[in-house]
Amino acid sequence: MRTIDWRNGRIVLIDQTLLPGTLKVVDVETVDGLIDAIKRLAVRGAPALGVAGALGVALAARNGDDVRREAEKLSKARPTAVNLSWGVRRVLAKLDQGTEAMVEEAVHVLEDDIRRNSDLGRRGAQWLIDRLGQRINVHTHCNAGALACVEWGTALGVVRALQERDALGHVYLDETRPLLQGARLTAWELKQMGVDHTVVVDSAGPTVLARGMADAVIVGADRIAANGDVVNKIGTYPLALAAARAGIPFLVAAPESTIDPATPDGAAVEIEVRDAAEILGDHTPDGSNALNYAFDVTPADLITAIVTDERIINGKPLG
Ligand code: MRU
Repeated sequence: MRTIDWRNGRIVLIDQTLLPGTLKVVDVETVDGLIDAIKRLAVRGAPALGVAGALGVALAARNGDDVRREAEKLSKARPTAVNLSWGVRRVLAKLDQGTEAMVEEAVHVLEDDIRRNSDLGRRGAQWLIDRLGQRINVHTHCNAGALACVEWGTALGVVRALQERDALGHVYLDETRPLLQGARLTAWELKQMGVDHTVVVDSAGPTVLARGMADAVIVGADRIAANGDVVNKIGTYPLALAAARAGIPFLVAAPESTIDPATPDGAAVEIEVRDAAEILGDHTPDGSNALNYAFDVTPADLITAIVTDERIINGKPLG
């Protein structure tokens, strides 16, 4: 089943806020409906946001909206993953050619996502097997699986490809507070894949690595700056520090559309700050403040390699 799709002139997507308890597919018929789905993380993950951006512009055209205005709103629904505005721009570029050309381009972005992610998954798996051999134990963070793309996944796509090659050992995953993309979504996908896995609290990730329980860390990315800094779900940076200390590879898996040559480095990326209510609750005293950074920056020098659908980048400046 696809995470997001185009059916009969409308967008259909899995509402990820309901997983793992309920697998519900919802129809999205307006750009405002799509923006709402993006903001509340019903659809999430950088590649899926790219596809949502592309399909959203096609939807605006089908609905006879002011396409430029809707595209602008859509681009800003979430600020950090560059794929969203990339997907919007891809389809907006066909504006002069009419609605059918825009729909065609959006569907092309969608189909391409599947191919690109399975390519990068297989490339990443080969890279790991060349270095680590068989039975590779992996640590991952957040959800960079099929649910973050159309199908297959990026970091979890590498895990899938390791499984295909019978080279996968155990998978450790951080629960990924506060919205639990690891504990809810990655664990759900791993269970469906029949992969042995263990959920740990986010702050235990570095200890898992220090104890030699994982041979490599594999994560996705929301934006990769021109200098190779990687922006990904909050909690990625401590894992990279711990991987460097433990002397194990830290692999970032992302499609080329996540690379943003217009952003010089991680410091230039807008980091989404989400509602404090996601952190505060009955367990915190009234009046406490919360700072809910959704992403962090991992400096390029902590990254062993970035695998994309076209290449492996390690240590060289990005083209
Ligand atoms: O806030 P989210 O759930 O959209 O954050 C997702 C991540 O940080 C993923 O790791 C990233 O988008 C890569 S997904 C292939």
